[in-house]
Amino acid sequence: MSELLIKNVKPYNEGEPVDVLVRGGVIAEIAAGIDAPDAEVIEGNGQILLPGFVDLHTHLREPGREDTETIETGSAAAALGGYTAVFAMANTNPVADSAVVTDHVWRRGQEVGLVDVFPVGAVTVGLEGKQLAEMGMMANSVGQVRMFSDDGHCVDDPLIMRRALEYANSLDVLIAQHAEEPRLTKGAVAHEGPTAARLGLAGWPRAAEESIVARDALLARDAGARVHICHASTAGTVELMKWAKGQGISITAEVTPHHLLLDDSRLETYDAINKVNPPLREASDAAALRAALAEGVIDCVATDHAPHAEQDKCCEFAAARPGMLGLETALSIVAQTMVEPGLLDWRGVARVMSERPAQIVGLDDHGRPIAVGEPANLTLVDPDAEWTVHGAELASISNNTPFEDMTFPAVVTATVLRGKVTAREGKAAGI
Ligand code: DOR
Ligand code: ZN
Repeated sequence: MSELLIKNVKPYNEGEPVDVLVRGGVIAEIAAGIDAPDAEVIEGNGQILLPGFVDLHTHLREPGREDTETIETGSAAAALGGYTAVFAMANTNPVADSAVVTDHVWRRGQEVGLVDVFPVGAVTVGLEGKQLAEMGMMANSVGQVRMFSDDGHCVDDPLIMRRALEYANSLDVLIAQHAEEPRLTKGAVAHEGPTAARLGLAGWPRAAEESIVARDALLARDAGARVHICHASTAGTVELMKWAKGQGISITAEVTPHHLLLDDSRLETYDAINKVNPPLREASDAAALRAALAEGVIDCVATDHAPHAEQDKCCEFAAARPGMLGLETALSIVAQTMVEPGLLDWRGVARVMSERPAQIVGLDDHGRPIAVGEPANLTLVDPDAEWTVHGAELASISNNTPFEDMTFPAVVTATVLRGKVTAREGKAAGI
């Protein structure tokens, strides 16, 4: 049976360095000075070993926009970013509203083999918000869809959302809501506030997000169902999450790295690289999101990795598509915004990037403790290294990173999926 020996690493950055021996995809031994002459070796050099990251929110663009990303290139980006599982959103073309599409995504992900690609099914047919998709068929097919979302669009009709929650409850699957009341954001391209007003950009008010978060918390309460809020972006959403969790409602939320770090002062240049949905908010919102992530009010980090072609980003602000790359930069941004200021330690990073997302969606073999007998889904991080982001060097086909030329702490030096090395020293396996 093949063996992998990861030498001289600190699990969660705790205790003295140890060696971790992996056999047949499972952690077989954790001790100092393990002797395994036939094993493939990764020299850890005292770096931090974490459970492989789990991204609940990735756009891989296959099928339909393979000019911007494919399951293969997105999987490589994920492995390089330290991920061992990603959830591929349903807003593809055709939309992933049937088992034909969700099974393709699952099978292609397994074929590429760099990361477990879990398909997200659409809540409504064609993401149109009118008629529930065949959630049961998708949940029971080969790809075993366990998360449903119309992401990119809000399930805005409260009756449809209520039925979706009830149906999801009986199937034991998760509904992830892109919280945006569309009547309040028609034509909006930027956060509604002093910056957008000065720049003459149509505003997307906080209330468009918060009104849906409040409504869905109440719908989940009444249905006795779980609901997950995608890309929380406002201080008000944080307050609502506190309230809802305090009521015992089964609600969870994610925050993106870009909403932790960036704010709407970025818009001064009118560069659509900063256009994203929900929009970059004010510095006070970003601060509230960081505090909420530290406290567990917001459960986890999810990238909203959204590749776009050059012609869809390098154009006038109103015409540009919203979205930014995220998979390869997420860990570094979490290190800068959360670890450096002391809001999270590395145990906390494991919680928000791996354990909580896996729990939220009910994965059994990701986000597990680093312990003997557990699946070897692991990420090795050098906390002392720095790197400078260059979009053209990222594994994604698209280059739309808002972090171009910025230097960040922490580098993912290796990723392991069930004992197989999927990325190492900046190179994805087989790519
Ligand atoms: O910025 C975004 N881009 N937000 C979304 O909800 C969708 C995503 C995309 O698909 O590009
Ligand atoms: Zn979204």
